[in-house]
Amino acid sequence: MDWFVRYFIKSALVYLGLGICFGIWMGFVPNATIYRPAHAHLNLLGFVSMLIFGVAYHVIPRFTGHALHSRRLAELHWWASNVGLVVLVLGFVFLPWAPGARLAIEVGAVLAAIGAFLFIYNLWRTLDGPGPKPSPPEALGGRRLPT
Ligand code: HEM
Ligand code: HEM
Repeated sequence: MDWFVRYFIKSALVYLGLGICFGIWMGFVPNATIYRPAHAHLNLLGFVSMLIFGVAYHVIPRFTGHALHSRRLAELHWWASNVGLVVLVLGFVFLPWAPGARLAIEVGAVLAAIGAFLFIYNLWRTLDGPGPKPSPPEALGGRRLPT
């Protein structure tokens, strides 16, 4: 299993744990609903999306029989999505107290979006595969094309 698959799934589990803590907090303390965007994105962008990223990187190459288009881009994706989400969520948490936290939301949003677009591109190319293979000699009636 590639490290980015393992760590997408592990980070998803960490975000689920954190997201649920915010949920419980909001359930018990009505004023804590100011943290709803942090809760929503830990759960939806952190848990749900990261789990999908990790599982998709593992299963799509196996389902299609095509190697992942780029492992390098998947590694970059892990960093962009995780740094992006952490910065975005910190921005959501601090925005009610410090208007300057808007900058963190903007930086986190751009990084998380870059990560998502890397995923879209990489999986799209993986689904398409490496393109038509050169015909084997048998398909040409055993004759080799002149070189
Ligand atoms: C033990 C687990 C959870 C608890 C206790 C919990 C609790 C809450 C609470 C108290 C709210 C705020 C409701 C309000 O505005 O008054 C909320 C909002 C929300 N929760 Fe959870 N939650 C949990 C898990 C999840 C999970 C797993 C997801 C997503 C996969 C999720 C997605 C959301 C979303 C999207 C909102 C915002 C909804 C809106 O825009 O109004 N929650 N949750
Ligand atoms: C690059 C990725 C994303 C960025 C930058 C982003 C950004 C934002 C921002 C800035 C808000 C407004 C928060 C506020 O009320 O102040 C928001 C709300 C919301 N987003 Fe996202 N989002 C992203 C991805 C997603 C995804 C993938 C989902 C669901 C799968 C999602 C679900 C929601 C929901 C449910 C709300 C309303 C939360 C609430 O009730 O407070 N977002 N998002």
